[in-house]
Amino acid sequence: MNKINAIITGVAGYVPDYVLNNEELSRMVDTNDEWITARTGIKERRILTEEGLGTSYMARKAAKLLLEKTGVDPDSVDAVIVATTTPDYVHPSTASIVLGKLGLKNAFAFDFSAACCGFMYAFDVAANMIQSGRHKRIIVIGADKMSAITDYKDRATCALFGDGAGAVMVEGTEEEGIGLMDSYHRTDGKGLPFLHIKAGGSVCPSSQFTVDHRLHYTYQEGRTVFKYAVTAMADDCKLVAEKNNLTADDIDYVVSHQANLRIIEAVAKRVGVPMDKVLVNIQRYGNTSAACMPLVLWDFESKLKKGDTMMFTAFAAGFAHGALYYKWAYDGATAATKK
Ligand code: COA
Repeated sequence: MNKINAIITGVAGYVPDYVLNNEELSRMVDTNDEWITARTGIKERRILTEEGLGTSYMARKAAKLLLEKTGVDPDSVDAVIVATTTPDYVHPSTASIVLGKLGLKNAFAFDFSAACCGFMYAFDVAANMIQSGRHKRIIVIGADKMSAITDYKDRATCALFGDGAGAVMVEGTEEEGIGLMDSYHRTDGKGLPFLHIKAGGSVCPSSQFTVDHRLHYTYQEGRTVFKYAVTAMADDCKLVAEKNNLTADDIDYVVSHQANLRIIEAVAKRVGVPMDKVLVNIQRYGNTSAACMPLVLWDFESKLKKGDTMMFTAFAAGFAHGALYYKWAYDGATAATKK
């Protein structure tokens, strides 16, 4: 029997209907379309505005579409992993809510916390679960309602983030030459002061003080994050490429975290990959944290062909970062018509 490798057999996504564009943002804070476009590449982002709906709502929509597109029997799903930094509740897990709403009977569920690296890391973990032979089918979801942790009075952060969810089906194959080939992930704990939410966790639980001082929103030192992200993502990609004897020409697509178009362009330049090989949708969604990567795959699925060489790379609070070498496993053009 050949070794089992893990492949993505389907992808789906969901973004809320409400579009918050730069023009509307510039009526909320002192900013303008020109500044946001030039510094970030973002033109608009989606916001989940309906009261009472959280991350699990978007995650469930994406997963439901995924089940429809792939035709997978829900009873055959072994696990649901939701990568998120904006869970519905502290507990139970958002994944357990998604599982319940989907009516999965034979699966277990858990959340995965690695902020914007959440999806890439969770996919790697799911792939290892599949490779072990103990699990056959796992739904990996990246979903975030970033609007819930974004301060719309802070012009330096509110332009960056948006809401959304993306989901992939991870299954096993014995076919050689497709699936997860290699990865390199690292986390540098020094990142804490530069990117975090000050209150609401166990160090500083919610209080009137924390609410009055707006401590429940993402705080970041943008320039430090920017520089670290570019260096780390580029170095990680180069390391994985070198280890696997890949030249920049061998890479068909870079699947990057969508934090800032200038970060993506700088990483591509350092890795030596032209921008037409980099999958980018930040203009329309902004940074949806864990949802960025599966949303990119969903948007560009129709372009992807079996055997395509892909380099995933992400950067996150922590500072977490990494790169993952993946060979696409199916003809995206046919699957994408089932959107
Ligand atoms: N509109 C207009 N001006 C703004 C603004 C906005 N939305 N946000 C900040 N500015 C101003 C700043 O106040 C500053 O003004 P000053 O020079 O008078 O102090 C000026 O623009 C430059 O700010 P700076 O922070 O140096 O800009 P930048 O080029 O670094 O861009 C970010 C800011 C946040 C877009 C950029 O640093 C970034 O994207 N960082 C990474 C963030 C990230 O990816 N976070 C998530 C990681 S997963």
